[in-house]
Amino acid sequence: SAEIEEYKNKIRQLLVEKDACLVAHYYTDDLIQQLADETGGCVADSLEMARFGSRHPASTLIVAGVRFMGETAKILNPEKRILMPTLEATCSLDIGCPADEFAAFCDQYPDHEVVVYANTSAAVKARADWVVTSSIALKVVEHLADQGKKIIWAPDKHLGEYVRKETGAEMILWDGSCIVHEEFKAKGILDLKQVYPDAAVLVHPESPDAVVEIADAVGSTSQLIKAAQELPNETFIVATDRGIFYKMQQAAPGKRFLEAPTGGSGATCRSCAHCPWMAMNGLDNILSALEHGADEIHVDADLREKALKPLQRMLDFSA
Ligand code: 13P
Ligand code: SF4
Repeated sequence: SAEIEEYKNKIRQLLVEKDACLVAHYYTDDLIQQLADETGGCVADSLEMARFGSRHPASTLIVAGVRFMGETAKILNPEKRILMPTLEATCSLDIGCPADEFAAFCDQYPDHEVVVYANTSAAVKARADWVVTSSIALKVVEHLADQGKKIIWAPDKHLGEYVRKETGAEMILWDGSCIVHEEFKAKGILDLKQVYPDAAVLVHPESPDAVVEIADAVGSTSQLIKAAQELPNETFIVATDRGIFYKMQQAAPGKRFLEAPTGGSGATCRSCAHCPWMAMNGLDNILSALEHGADEIHVDADLREKALKPLQRMLDFSA
């Protein structure tokens, strides 16, 4: 509509004026992903967002996603101004892993290597030896297990369980989960497969074990998009946030993508698998972030230094 175009044009203009770049996650609104593409920003998974933000020369980054993504950008690029459409966009994994409780948990196992998922606060990262995202978790844990290391894993228990099964590593898991992926049901997916027997099942590893077990491909958002391109199937049942369909459709035009059921009844639910915090990002608050510079991410210098180590380790390992 005309109103949307007006928003987009104002944002385009301000991005240039303010030397800013829009970095968006695949779960954000289609309009945001489109705008990030059109303005030379990026649409990516959480690891690629971190890499892109560090490499891009802009002095301001607008991070459309959730808070840990903005914090990661700030920790890696303290000299840049990091704005978010809203600082209220958090993540159930982050909420479910308070730094003080986590530190006490780690203190119980002093001989363990501490590996935390990127979906955590700066304070939790500061207590970790390694940060990982879903695209690199298996490789990092394999590397640690090869060295005979025992591991504390936090906060996502489903991703942790998947990594433990795949690598055989000795892991103690924190009890956290993603409220979006937690809802996918293996029964519903199997029922849907009866209707589409040739469909391949794509699963983000934050989903419950029973769902991961019936997957044809398991991986980060970027890895799932790649699988949709590479697998020969024409139809896919996709167990992750529905924001991903925008890029999946572009990457594999002509293929059919179905939302994995969340209710167990076999009926797809159009609005269930969508992260409520990702949904807080809109053209309106991107515009006001650019106009007013509100919702800026700040990370205390001491905390930043501590959180940088495990984050940088991940980037170096994956380079
Ligand atoms: P990715 O690293 O796969 O993009 O995952 C981020 C996330 O929040 C998934 O729910
Ligand atoms: Fe966190 Fe889940 Fe939302 Fe990803 S989808 S940001 S893991 S709550």
